Amino acid sequence: MTTSKHTESVARRMLLRFEGILNKAFGNDLNPFYYLGALGFFFFWVVAVSGAYIYIFYDTGVEDAFNSVESLAHEQPYLGGIMRSLHRYASDALIVVMMLHLLREFILGRYRGARWFAWFTGVPLIWLIFTAGINGYWMPWDTLAHYSTVAAMEWLDWLPIFSEPMAPTFISQEVLNDRFFSLISFAHVTIPVLILFLLWVHIMRISYPVVNPRRGLALGMLLAMLVLALVKPALSQGPADMGIEPRNIGIDWFYLFIFPLLDSWSAGQVWALTIGISVLLSVLPWLPTKNKQIPIAEVSLKNCNGCRRCVADCPYEAVVMQPRSDGMRFQEEAVVIPDRCVSCGICAGACPSSTPFRSDAGYVSGIEMPSMPMAGLRAAMTDDLAKLEGDARIMVFGCDNAADIGKLRSEGVAVMSLPCTAMLPPSFIEYALYENQADGVFITGCRENDCYHRLGGEWTKQRLDREREPRLRGRVERKHGRIGLFWASSTDFRELTLELESFRASLRDLASAQAEANNEADSRAVQ
Ligand code: HEM
Ligand code: SF4
Ligand code: SF4
Repeated sequence: MTTSKHTESVARRMLLRFEGILNKAFGNDLNPFYYLGALGFFFFWVVAVSGAYIYIFYDTGVEDAFNSVESLAHEQPYLGGIMRSLHRYASDALIVVMMLHLLREFILGRYRGARWFAWFTGVPLIWLIFTAGINGYWMPWDTLAHYSTVAAMEWLDWLPIFSEPMAPTFISQEVLNDRFFSLISFAHVTIPVLILFLLWVHIMRISYPVVNPRRGLALGMLLAMLVLALVKPALSQGPADMGIEPRNIGIDWFYLFIFPLLDSWSAGQVWALTIGISVLLSVLPWLPTKNKQIPIAEVSLKNCNGCRRCVADCPYEAVVMQPRSDGMRFQEEAVVIPDRCVSCGICAGACPSSTPFRSDAGYVSGIEMPSMPMAGLRAAMTDDLAKLEGDARIMVFGCDNAADIGKLRSEGVAVMSLPCTAMLPPSFIEYALYENQADGVFITGCRENDCYHRLGGEWTKQRLDREREPRLRGRVERKHGRIGLFWASSTDFRELTLELESFRASLRDLASAQAEANNEADSRAVQ
């Protein structure tokens, strides 16, 4: 059974190898690369809380702004100083995780098709977060603030938005007044509110979004920032002197890198670069690709009883329920929203009518992937299992986005790769073990906490552990030893092969233990 396998890029392989090292160092639960979006939220909240504290002491005045911020470090070094440092370092960390998050989603190809929405709404987030950070650097009104304000205004002056150029306002002390500080402090509260709103929009089409990193990861990050705050507290760089052109300033390269660029490029060129990158990022989801999207899920009303399991399991809020339209006795029916469906097949794995224990050869499930109907999967599995030979015949189910299980096929091993492992209804495992006499079923898919379709790994585990519908039935429970489970990315093929070998050995042990028990029972019966 073949589906739309994603092209494996060098960048993807490198990323997976690097994440493999992080998994070994921290464990999958604490791998920061699996929680980049959630870490973005975490740093945002640290910035918001520390910022709210500093804001209490902020004075809006040409002289007062500098003094009020600088006094935090001297008059209350423990709370004020640490809060200021946390505010700065969490803002820097926000940029790092945001850029890594963007890069990771791009490398893994998780920005096309129905995922365009999260990607597209991410682009204005970049602009807003940089604007808030640059605006923040003006607040303490030190030499860095002066430098970045003049540079930003010269850059903005290139655009035909102000009737008079803004940059000269910041060249003499007399022209600047307190209103500027009221304005920037107002903006410094308003922009983060806009960011929060856009973050809410960003994850609107994602079911059960992970917005909090694991506790250990959050504490580790907080501790690292506290240590940094003590070792290298955030300080101002001397009061702004409007008569002097700022020199020898320490730049925050996370937020202010654009300004040194303005020294060598014209304002127009820097606008062309930033707008060009933004437009390119925005249209990226629609650029042509070699990866083919398989047709989206389809509901068959005749086979839908309105149980809502597909709604509960879809990772992209792509299935909704509506009042029954066909006069059947059930209250509701499932409907797929076409432009939200990523064709993962998880809904088909959740639907009770996907069970292969149905008598009709061409049966149809309540919700199906048109290119891989359940009846077709059952037929393909039955054919493959009939051809197996040997004393440990294994059916392997895997995922198109993880290790390539096609290479595991042998005279004792049949394989079936699905768009996501969670497209597999647990009843197929029971069917393989009892109706088709496979000796064991081995399940694999993307690494733990890193499902390409977000929730497929977790749902599979919960279904097999009988914690989620559709549950694996009691007679085939995992503890009986005939079901193997090992998560492996495309770069973990060697580990996967070893694990399958050890599963095969354990099946043989099980078989000989069973044979011994049968012999004993036979000889007792003869006596
Ligand atoms: C600091 C800013 C950002 C934060 C806090 C953030 C946070 C998140 C979170 C929490 C998720 C859901 C993760 C999950 O549960 O699977 C997510 C998904 C996503 N984000 Fe962001 N994000 C940010 C910026 C961006 C940017 C700049 C882009 C790209 C332009 C982007 C692209 C995406 C995409 C494509 C997804 C969907 C992934 C999928 O479909 O599996 N994000 N983001
Ligand atoms: S295939 Fe099903 S579970 Fe996957 S996104 Fe589409 S509707 Fe949701
Ligand atoms: S899981 Fe199947 S039966 Fe239940 S609501 Fe969805 S399509 Fe209908």
